[in-house]
Amino acid sequence: MQKISLDISRLDGFVSADEIKGIEKDTLAAQVALQNKSGKGSDFLGWVDLPLSVSKEEIKDINETAKKLAKSSEVVVVIGIGGSYLGARAVIDALSDSFDLMRSKRETPAIVYAGQNIGEDYSAELLDLLQERSFSVIVISKSGTTTEPAIAFRLLKGLLEQKYSSEEVKERIVAITDKSKGALRTLVEQEGYKSYIIPDDVGGRYSVLTPVGLLPIAVAGFDIEKLLQGAADMIKLTNEEVSFKDNPATLYAAVRNVLYSKGKKNEILVNYNPKLHYFAEWWKQLYGESEGKESKGIFPAAVDFTTDLHSMGQWIQEGERSIFETVISVEESNRNLKVPHAKEDLDKLNYLADKSIDEVNKMAELGTLVAHVDGGVPNIRISVPKLSEYYLGQLIYMFEKACGISGYILGVNPFDQPGVEAYKSNMFALLGKPGFEDETKAIKKRL
Ligand code: PA5
Repeated sequence: MQKISLDISRLDGFVSADEIKGIEKDTLAAQVALQNKSGKGSDFLGWVDLPLSVSKEEIKDINETAKKLAKSSEVVVVIGIGGSYLGARAVIDALSDSFDLMRSKRETPAIVYAGQNIGEDYSAELLDLLQERSFSVIVISKSGTTTEPAIAFRLLKGLLEQKYSSEEVKERIVAITDKSKGALRTLVEQEGYKSYIIPDDVGGRYSVLTPVGLLPIAVAGFDIEKLLQGAADMIKLTNEEVSFKDNPATLYAAVRNVLYSKGKKNEILVNYNPKLHYFAEWWKQLYGESEGKESKGIFPAAVDFTTDLHSMGQWIQEGERSIFETVISVEESNRNLKVPHAKEDLDKLNYLADKSIDEVNKMAELGTLVAHVDGGVPNIRISVPKLSEYYLGQLIYMFEKACGISGYILGVNPFDQPGVEAYKSNMFALLGKPGFEDETKAIKKRL
């Protein structure tokens, strides 16, 4: 089986073999705790075996719903925030044509997102667009009460009701939420929308391989079986029978904790393929929300190279030495394009003529790697054979597993997010939400 691989050889000089040996025991204990469901937050470990437990019937049902939405809609709006949209967007953007939304001849609907911000202009502009297009909505919220997606859903439901009959509105809304709790579940039951359940034991940021990610990905025309197959194969490649050093999840979790203990407090996820921008956003949430607690945790950042070499490159090369890089390197591009030869060579680029664009990109990657390592930036490299559903499935599962292990090594619960509530309660107090009267008085006194 072809697989993604991890290269830590560029940690030489930053992390010693003894230091890696030193953390091996804790890493393996963390791995066992995850597998045995005996660690912190163990009631949120449903994602660990998830890729093996999605049945053929579930896949068939999701694909049928996706086809139905696609058939009736020029645009499908995915409403959700955080873990309820980033996984789908990560995969869809990684696999889609970069100019997908501009193509006039389409085989699948354009996917756009809502409820991931509270931008008034964004919402109004989206409504303008949807006035002119046939559209459907996939609304996703595990709690069913999150304000951002709830506002977006109210707006879009209103527009659907203006445009279509009540029967058709029902056909154009699919909800993904908790099986019994939350306002969205109440709406589903009352209005009779098609719905999918987010399992109780799968938290938002670990939910991409549930209908949360699978339905939007299927609507966009991608093969969710292959995505799940990649993740299922990664279960085997990261299980306890695989040795610590051959297991990308244990090794990655271990070395990033060694780096953290040596003052490398910030991890920069680097890609050289613009299609991975949202994959990095998904990764940032996964690691940021899982580890950033109890005044601990690596700060996860991300850059798109070579674009950001012209903005962040200086800082990375010579700024405070508190960073390390994890590079996602895609070995083979899906398209082939060469630098053309020019008769006059006025731009002095003929030395690149007939080289593929990817070859130039790879030399940029190699040159940057050497420069950054020389500049004191430890480097971890994750090699992905190509961008496909299968390898993205592998990558997603590897990062999820490594994140659980890494959080346990750090000593935190990687499956809760108590800190996310603080802003919400202030916002509700300021907006005068019923039930927040005391908080309203308290916050008004402070302002
Ligand atoms: O990972 C998480 O749990 C969060 O990012 C949630 O996904 C996010 O806050 C959205 O929550 P909900 O799905 O309940 O609307």
